[in-house]
Amino acid sequence: MTNFLNLNRTGDNIPLVGFGTARITQEATPDVVYTAIKSGYRLIDGALLYGNETQVGQGIKRAIDEGIVKREELFVISKLWASFHSKDDVRRSFNVTLGNLGLDYIDLYLIHFPFATESVDPSLPITGFLNKDNNFVLQRTPIHETWGAMENLVDAGLVRNIGLSNFNVQSILDLLTYARIKPAILEIELHPYLWQERLITWVKSQGIDIIAYASFGNTVFDEVPPATAHLPILMTHPTVKEIAQKHNRNNGQILLSFAAQQNIIVIPKSAQESRMKTNLDLFSFKLDADDIKQLKALNVHARFSDPVPNTYGFDLPIFE
Ligand SMILES: NC(=O)c1ccc[n+]([C@@H]2O[C@H](COP(=O)([O-])OP(=O)(O)OC[C@H]3O[C@@H](n4cnc5c(N)ncnc54)[C@H](OP(=O)(O)O)[C@@H]3O)[C@@H](O)[C@H]2O)c1
Repeated sequence: MTNFLNLNRTGDNIPLVGFGTARITQEATPDVVYTAIKSGYRLIDGALLYGNETQVGQGIKRAIDEGIVKREELFVISKLWASFHSKDDVRRSFNVTLGNLGLDYIDLYLIHFPFATESVDPSLPITGFLNKDNNFVLQRTPIHETWGAMENLVDAGLVRNIGLSNFNVQSILDLLTYARIKPAILEIELHPYLWQERLITWVKSQGIDIIAYASFGNTVFDEVPPATAHLPILMTHPTVKEIAQKHNRNNGQILLSFAAQQNIIVIPKSAQESRMKTNLDLFSFKLDADDIKQLKALNVHARFSDPVPNTYGFDLPIFE
């Protein structure tokens, strides 16, 4: 059984366990997404950045056409890329996303990062934070304008909920001073090596739910910031292994349930059907207070998805 949270304002059900779609090839994506839905996932986390939205849409369409799921039973997420923060670009870029997915609305649209880079054509493949000349160029568009355009998408019935990703408390505090529609979600890097207890508590106290990404920490990163390079791989950390043995579950299930059992949504990606199934099976066992305490004790404030030169190609301390 999948557990749900209820989002603020709309009361929409959002599953505590969803499926991430980053770093899946375009060729593999339709099948992977279809198999994920067939395995029981009802939340699909995507983004224009991932370059496979069209194929995510194909996987969803096949599952709906085969009667595995109805559109209204799915919770589909996409994200506004940093180059499209201006009022007009938000709408243009969102239209591309909606067309890619082949849907007439999405359940949640997030601002992917809290800053704007120079505008590009949203129908072309995204080159990341750097422009085609490999430069990092900021755009003079305030989040205030971007959020207003996100709210307009809700008013138009195109998006049910709106939210933020990679924002810190300072930027959320500012946004809350003018938001007509409060963010429903904050999506952030969150795992035992980066267990942001104060952030979680405050964000939740504002009625904003949290989606954790990179639940397996450094396990899944090809390159990590130099300051974190000494850390053992989280997935095979002795504490994680020991807790997994105690509950007769695999290490991935322990890292995911650590968040999910604290009412934080997780969005693991796997191209392997057997892992899709175990990653979804997080409520057939319960971590006890001692397990949670031990996992929290692994926190060393280590952030792996950090825009530093060796991960994103530029240096911007957005989380500081
Ligand atoms: N908002 C943001 O800025 C942001 C940033 C990063 C990610 N995200 C979202 O979060 C999702 C998840 O994060 P992520 O892609 O960084 O990493 P992840 O889903 O935490 O990890 C994916 C990797 O772990 C492997 N894996 C999956 N389940 C496993 C298990 N049970 N045991 C061992 N290995 C396992 C997968 O390999 P196999 O496929 O071979 O199983 C894959 O290589 C993304 O897909 C994306 O939707 C959002």
